[in-house]
Amino acid sequence: MRVTMIGAGYVGLVSGACFADFGHQVTCIDKDAGRIAALNRGEIPIFEPGLTDLVAANTHQGRLEFAAASSRIGEAEAVFIAVGTPSRRGDGHADLTFVYDAVREIAPLLSPAALVITKSTVPVGTGDEIEHILREKRPDAEIQVVSNPEFLREGAAIQDFKHPDRIVVGTEDARARAVVAEIYRPLYLNAPPIIYVSRRTAELIKYAANAFLATKITFINEIADLCEAVGADVQEVARGMGLDNRIGAKFLHPGPGFGGSCFPKDTSALLKTAQDHGVALRIVEAVSAVNEQRKRAMARKVVAALDGSVRGKTVAVFGLTFKPNTDDIRDSPAIPLITALHDLGAAVRGYDPAGMEQAKSQLPAVQYCDSAYDAAKGAHAVVIATEWEQFRALDLARLKRVMATPVIVDLRNIYRVDEMRRADFRYVAVGRAGVD
Ligand SMILES: NC(=O)c1ccc[n+]([C@@H]2O[C@H](COP(=O)([O-])OP(=O)(O)OC[C@H]3O[C@@H](n4cnc5c(N)ncnc54)[C@H](O)[C@@H]3O)[C@@H](O)[C@H]2O)c1
Repeated sequence: MRVTMIGAGYVGLVSGACFADFGHQVTCIDKDAGRIAALNRGEIPIFEPGLTDLVAANTHQGRLEFAAASSRIGEAEAVFIAVGTPSRRGDGHADLTFVYDAVREIAPLLSPAALVITKSTVPVGTGDEIEHILREKRPDAEIQVVSNPEFLREGAAIQDFKHPDRIVVGTEDARARAVVAEIYRPLYLNAPPIIYVSRRTAELIKYAANAFLATKITFINEIADLCEAVGADVQEVARGMGLDNRIGAKFLHPGPGFGGSCFPKDTSALLKTAQDHGVALRIVEAVSAVNEQRKRAMARKVVAALDGSVRGKTVAVFGLTFKPNTDDIRDSPAIPLITALHDLGAAVRGYDPAGMEQAKSQLPAVQYCDSAYDAAKGAHAVVIATEWEQFRALDLARLKRVMATPVIVDLRNIYRVDEMRRADFRYVAVGRAGVD
């Protein structure tokens, strides 16, 4: 099948490459000409494990191509929209400018029987508006608009795309359902459930899922605070809870608050949708507020670990991305943490295996270093902000030798308390008894 992907970012590029790998003929279009030129040179503009090889193999075999202009759209049976839907400045609604602009651009070029399939995360009713635009611009055509939200996680995106827990298809049109089923047919061996629902239901499933995951994280973060107050260990509480099949162990890892390109903006957009419809989502409201406070509060942990002041001191931050195995720093908890440390008078040295280029524009005052040990040089404290594998087995003796004072603030709980004690570090973690 001939498929076009509008937007070659984290979702568009991964989805396009995976569809090509399924055997479809895929064109990825992005208005960022620099990005397309890089892709055509074989350079992958984002960090995603396995993506370089997947793109190379499929371009080599002639199933995947990249274009800056709207080429081949008229030949495509399915055109996916995978452009960004960031938070709108000022009010927190999803900014749908990119989506509607993309639809207006492709409208005159679409084949009359094409499907327009929205992979971008869009509020309920966006599909209706897309349909309205297409009807206006293409009264001649029978173009169907389908919602097919994407659930992949950055850092494990290819695995997630090829082994999804479910595929959600929002359309009531039988032909459109059959075409989408055909696109995903190569996954049938893995037998992922395909859920056929109305377009509005599909749009809401995505937001409800993300808000629920954000709630789970925020719940365990608050339990972590309680653990610190009462002398319990949140790691064990989470394990004791998570072994209950009704609860599940995932997303029960306490930390510095959720961040990233999806949860903050999607919880905010869901709240706006609910407000617009006169519905109170008080749990999601609380999740969003608690999380915002938490991100900045992490700096207070560092201050406490350094005896009440960071002024004139140096703090090394390990990990700048919102999670490991990505270079994405959008809404990373490391940003408010570092901003607060700067505000409090600290100098910050930073290291991240993949995210430093992206971080530089947002955090220009950080001194960027070549390795964790380099960042730790002369530091009064190390803060582990992202649980990259390479931070899990640091040479503690070496670290201690280069630091000014042996203090570690582990916001991801990746170390054992006894190990840190043996190495003679002052160790501060999240929600763990027996720790400072
Ligand atoms: N990143 C994730 O992990 C993830 C997971 C699931 C869903 N989503 C959703 O998928 C959507 C895309 O997210 P992303 O992280 O891939 O965004 P991104 O910013 O990485 O990529 C979007 C791309 O679209 C391009 N673009 C914008 N307007 C265009 C147009 N008119 N024509 C062609 N290209 C255009 C941009 O240049 C950019 O390269 C969002 O709605 C997001 O919420 C993201």
